[in-house]
Amino acid sequence: MTSSPVDPTTTASWGDLYGHYQEFQGDLRGWFAADPGRAERMTHVAGDLHVDLSKNLATDETLGLLVRLAHEVRLPERIEAMFTGEHINATEDRAVLHTALRRAPGAQPPLVVDGQDVDADVQAELDKVGAFADEVRTGAWSGITGKPVRTVVNIGIGGSDLGPVMVYEALKPYGRTGSDALEVRFVSNIDPTDVAQKTADLDPETTLFIVASKTFGTLETLTNARLARAWLWERLIAAGAIEDDDDAKQAAVKAHFVAVSTALDKVADFGIDPANAFGFWDWVGGRYSVDSAIGTSLAIAFGPDVFRELLAGFRTVDEHFRSTPLEANVPVLMGMLNVWYVNFLGAHTHAVLPYAQQLHRFPAYLQQLTMESNGKSVRWDGTPVTTQTGEIFWGEPGTNGQHAFYQLIHQGTRLIPADFIAVATPAYPLTDTEGDGKAVAPGADVHELFLANFFAQTKALAFGKTAEEVRAEGTPEEIVPARVFSGNRPTTSILAPALTPSVLGQLVALYEHITFVQGVVWGIDSFDQWGVELGKKLALEVAPAVSGDDAALAAQDSSTQALIRYYREHRA
Ligand code: F6P
Repeated sequence: MTSSPVDPTTTASWGDLYGHYQEFQGDLRGWFAADPGRAERMTHVAGDLHVDLSKNLATDETLGLLVRLAHEVRLPERIEAMFTGEHINATEDRAVLHTALRRAPGAQPPLVVDGQDVDADVQAELDKVGAFADEVRTGAWSGITGKPVRTVVNIGIGGSDLGPVMVYEALKPYGRTGSDALEVRFVSNIDPTDVAQKTADLDPETTLFIVASKTFGTLETLTNARLARAWLWERLIAAGAIEDDDDAKQAAVKAHFVAVSTALDKVADFGIDPANAFGFWDWVGGRYSVDSAIGTSLAIAFGPDVFRELLAGFRTVDEHFRSTPLEANVPVLMGMLNVWYVNFLGAHTHAVLPYAQQLHRFPAYLQQLTMESNGKSVRWDGTPVTTQTGEIFWGEPGTNGQHAFYQLIHQGTRLIPADFIAVATPAYPLTDTEGDGKAVAPGADVHELFLANFFAQTKALAFGKTAEEVRAEGTPEEIVPARVFSGNRPTTSILAPALTPSVLGQLVALYEHITFVQGVVWGIDSFDQWGVELGKKLALEVAPAVSGDDAALAAQDSSTQALIRYYREHRA
């Protein structure tokens, strides 16, 4: 049984933070002018991540109080409880051990939890995934007609999709190109468009499906898996590659389907050979599972060594999180700053803005990680939370966002803390040989132009532009107010040398731990997700009404009845 949550609002530091908030005046211009050491002092390093917190709306006093709060809610104890396998997922009575997925091979002492030698099991499964990935990559694994795999289709949703998609997009430069190229596609939505479009141009003889589902009971994934299986049979039969009989069909499934799940018994029921199923454990939450066998598609796309390098990156930040004093602990400081923004300064959302096109799915990935984890109203002991929780995470890569929603961040009425993320070395170093004859010189390094935007945006958000500065540009008086930027819009800048597999792992682990820190302060079980259940159950109850069952229709509320009638009348 895990210890009771500490109500943060009853701690001395919360009272002190409230007093501090009442007198608080954000003044990034003034703070920087008065304190040349601010940036250096407020920049911390976690592995390869260089994290500048200095453009946040916080003074040394704020950070000191937040660190005190972290101690008062017993954060260090909770961190240890997580790493050592205490059942901190209270509502499901489970350990939370995604950090065990990336422990070093041979780490001492071995991690044994609830009688399970976790390290041995993790390494054995990783080896199995790696060996399978090598078989697919070398062509030793072939489809039913002996052809090598050219396309892998990962069928999964939520944590069984968002992590693999995000990493696949981020690490594409590490993929194979040319005649032995291996593409991975991802089918998640139960909208039939998804599977139809993703399979339309595929050759069934060279396609491998991975059915990824922790529970192997998710409606979307199992429906899409059946659709994919039907597609495979139909196309193989049409091509004359297999006979239209049960034995041939079963053999085709064995050659073209593998699974990743914690429910290996259900995998066999689908017709997938249990020898071709990769497991993980109930102590890995779906949204924390990209570094488990759920990443099998990634090991195939990039090779097992790259996958292990990704895990090593996670480990780097795990070690930082577990052993660094809270004052210099990056996930702790970022998580506690989020608490400051949500609970004292009234922020409702948090933007994540990667200046790296390869990270274009990172905000979507973070939405599940953060919002499924901390979107809760009760604490882990079942009592109501005592303060606001779970901000909305959102974002898009820069510079695209600059031309879409940054207006609101710069001049809107809402406080939107934002994380800017970039790397120094681009995957594709391109130069603009011609330039534009004005601002862009011939031979300009385009990545430098890109990064200049990152630096300019964080500067503009922090320091703004005063009315005097606007007037000094000769702006007509009547539009001066519209051109003023208040500044004091908080940002965190995260830089790394390059988007390597290790750096990507570090980034993901950083946000996992930030999420955990916030959950601990709020007393939340960040590892259950009961809030997704009701809708899932109702969908199954409503389905007969949609399909024409009038008694089921009559049992619905008047709005739902009218919507379903509309559907029935308009379905072509
Ligand atoms: O519905 C939410 C959820 O349970 C997520 O937590 C999970 O990542 C997703 O569904 C998929 O679940 P599974 O991997 O069991 O198919």
